[in-house]
Amino acid sequence: MSGEAILRAYDLTRYYETKKSMFGAGATVKALNGASFDLHAGETLAIVGESGCGKSTLARVLTMIEPPTSGRLEIEGHEISMVGNKPPGELRKQVQIVFQNPYGSLNPRKTIATMLEEPLKLNTDLDQTQRRSAAEEMIAKVGLRPEHADRYPHMFSGGQRQRIAVARALMLRPKILILDEPVSALDLSIQAQILNLLSDLQDEFGLAYIFISHDLSVVRRIAKDIIVMYFGKPVEVGSSRQIFSQPKHPYTQALFSATPVADPTRRKQHIRLSGEPPSPLAPPPGCAFAPRCPRVQDKCTQQAPALEPVDGVEIACFYPVS
Ligand SMILES: Nc1ncnc2c1ncn2[C@@H]1O[C@H](COP(=O)(O)OP(=O)(O)O)[C@@H](O)[C@H]1O
Ligand code: SF4
Ligand SMILES: [Mg+2]
Repeated sequence: MSGEAILRAYDLTRYYETKKSMFGAGATVKALNGASFDLHAGETLAIVGESGCGKSTLARVLTMIEPPTSGRLEIEGHEISMVGNKPPGELRKQVQIVFQNPYGSLNPRKTIATMLEEPLKLNTDLDQTQRRSAAEEMIAKVGLRPEHADRYPHMFSGGQRQRIAVARALMLRPKILILDEPVSALDLSIQAQILNLLSDLQDEFGLAYIFISHDLSVVRRIAKDIIVMYFGKPVEVGSSRQIFSQPKHPYTQALFSATPVADPTRRKQHIRLSGEPPSPLAPPPGCAFAPRCPRVQDKCTQQAPALEPVDGVEIACFYPVS
């Protein structure tokens, strides 16, 4: 059973204007080009797709680091209106982010306790002693030791740094955590530890996760629902169970068949995902996957398919895999 929708995205877009250069006129990069979905309280929604398909752009828009170019974002039923590009504080606190790079995301000149106390200083009335004890409590919750509080980031391993980044993201007790490739930079054994930690924290705090990853074995382990993105748009949306057992969009099928599955009796026919995604500066007419699609027909190069419900999932394709 699914919980209530804690976050709703309606046709979100984010465009970037590139500057005029010696190579020609400026252009519009449609990094995110229309994403609609619900995130349910306490659940994990994974966003998958090749590099450059707009995952991090979506993460920045959902975290309200950047405003959408168009579309609507609702948190707990409240529409986020970006007055002067700034979202309202209370709703802003509900969504926090953890980035991929555990080396770049922590300030090297601040101790762990200082970093964890910072959001409390800015957003709450807690005094110094209360802030310190809240930081120590969170340090324990992410599996670090009390003596770690007064150390600096360079004294920690990559996995420990991701624990610190998670702790910092949780200080304001958000309901939603956006995890942008949170384990991609870590060794496999460390990945497993961090995924276990995230799973424990999800249960303890009732967190909803948006888990961005290009690693389908990780996604399979943790996601309840999946959004497959291609060239700035969701092309398949549905439960992890359905999408892994029977991908319907030709892109999903190619992407998923390139990943070995644990059970060899269920191994799919290997379909090669050849070629590169199109250049955002020269988008193809019609379906963006057409230049690489084994099922392409004339219609695909003339019209863009919209995301529509098919057998319990949503797909954007005129000729889905049945
Ligand atoms: N600030 C920006 N200015 C111009 N183009 C951008 C900017 N951020 C992202 N892009 C472009 O938008 C597309 C999506 O990028 P991104 O969201 O980082 O993808 P992903 O996280 O899936 O790899 C890429 O083509 C990228 O080059
Ligand atoms: S619409 Fe056509 S080109 Fe696009 S994915 Fe479907 S079959 Fe392939
Ligand atoms: Mg990214």
